[in-house]
Amino acid sequence: MDIFFSSLYLIQFVILCISLLLIIFSIYKRKSPSPKLPPGRRGWPIVGETLEYVRACKSGEPEKFIIDRMSNYSTEVFQTSLFGENLLVFCGASGNKFMFSSANKHVTPWWPRSISAALNFPSDMAFLKDDIAKLRAMLPEFLKPEALQRYIPIMDSMAKEHLETSWSPYNEVMVFPLTKEYTIAVACRVFINIKDLEHITRFSNLFSLITKGILSAPIKLPGTAFSHAVREGKLLHEEFLGIIRDRKMELLEKKVPAKEDLLSRMLLVTDHENGRGMNEKLIASQIIGFFIGSYITTSSTITSILRYLAEFPNVYNKVLKEQMEIAKSKGPGELLSWEDIKKMKYSWNVACEAMRLAPPIQGAFREVTTEFTYAGSTIPKGWKAYWTVASTHKNPKYFPDPEKFDPSRFEGNGPAPYTFVPFGGGPHMCLGKEYSRLEILTFIHNVVTKYKWEKVNANEKIVFNPAPSPVNGLLVRIEPLIKN
Ligand code: HEM
Ligand SMILES: *[C@@H]1O[C@H](CO)[C@@H](O)[C@H](O)[C@H]1NC(C)=O
Repeated sequence: MDIFFSSLYLIQFVILCISLLLIIFSIYKRKSPSPKLPPGRRGWPIVGETLEYVRACKSGEPEKFIIDRMSNYSTEVFQTSLFGENLLVFCGASGNKFMFSSANKHVTPWWPRSISAALNFPSDMAFLKDDIAKLRAMLPEFLKPEALQRYIPIMDSMAKEHLETSWSPYNEVMVFPLTKEYTIAVACRVFINIKDLEHITRFSNLFSLITKGILSAPIKLPGTAFSHAVREGKLLHEEFLGIIRDRKMELLEKKVPAKEDLLSRMLLVTDHENGRGMNEKLIASQIIGFFIGSYITTSSTITSILRYLAEFPNVYNKVLKEQMEIAKSKGPGELLSWEDIKKMKYSWNVACEAMRLAPPIQGAFREVTTEFTYAGSTIPKGWKAYWTVASTHKNPKYFPDPEKFDPSRFEGNGPAPYTFVPFGGGPHMCLGKEYSRLEILTFIHNVVTKYKWEKVNANEKIVFNPAPSPVNGLLVRIEPLIKN
């Protein structure tokens, strides 16, 4: 009997195998001619062209990777493979417009695996889709200009304190590392209301390790930048979970005024249908994402601005004049206000020109959700799409004499639509644009009205890491403007 049944199973198994083979064979034979993909090449398996891209970044010319391929393959869209993904790079003002358009039903935001792994995004992301949407919906309320106004005096006094303790005692300072300390301190204050220096310094070290691994090939071998990022990301995640749990207790005991910082606000978002709060791990990864997205970008921008001000005395003089007028209009000890920020028009043009030439973020990703045709090519479902600042910021078609530092480009109507895009555009545009503007301008106000500076190394190289970074941190010789 037993033998009878087992041979029956065997026969069934053999039949199943044969039919599977037949099905596979027929699919293989009927495979339609492959769709016409955009031109380009994908390089090596897994790493793709990541090494070429990283090399371009390390030599200070990430735009070269894009511009070379635009001229070899297509000025509209080309294919490549970066960070372990097949990518279609959309180019030019029309490519940007297409990617930013709110009417664009074909793509959805997406982050490379290297980033989501470093940020420790919970693996059950699909399950958390509603929570993510709820948290995302709360952000504009927290980050809109009117809501951020109350942080202007805080940022101003933090900038003053920073310069007093980290600049004033010295004749020479290294701008980039110091600026990172400042921007992390501001983020700690605004996002999680942490003020003690020991905490801030530890975060600062962890964040810089994670940032280094973020745009690397996602190869999890001992010693790679990616493995470091993942490991440090886990440590940081644990630390943030601790902070979140403490805060939850404090909120329950009503020790802290509600709605003070980003963390409290996130914790107060509830799922009304199910009467529960947001997933703690999700909040931790979102706040870590905020730190990563905010500190390196703003510190790199401030550093670029100080570098350009040292290189162009006529621009420095105009910024100084604008900021001195504002300083003179203030009473002793009076901190900056929203009205003052609005007067910093020329200074903001300088910041924009710095971000055009040294963009803090090179672009952003989407995932293709439905197949469509673009510029005569098929864009297949499941592929990743990438828009980059490089395809327009240094394109002579949009910015004549593109390598020239010229803040007057931003006077009048300014650059053509979709060509100056350091913050992206459309519904997924950077939510931190106003925060960045306030942080950058308050810092520039303080530094310009207190010091003169010059570069110690006249020809220091800039590398993209992934944000533009002077290789030796931008050492400057400083002198107080008003001698006591
Ligand atoms: C100079 C500084 C900054 C630059 C150049 C910058 C640039 C960008 C870019 C290019 C994107 C991607 C847009 C896209 O997907 O198309 C982005 C997204 C984002 N940024 Fe920023 N950023 C800066 C600072 C900040 C700061 C300080 C914060 C937080 C306070 C922040 C929060 C965000 C958030 C939350 C997103 C995601 C928006 C979404 O997906 O809806 N950024 N940023
Ligand atoms: C572009 O074309 C030139 C000449 O055919 C070739 O040497 C170069 O490798 C190509 N570059 C890229 C990025 O495809």
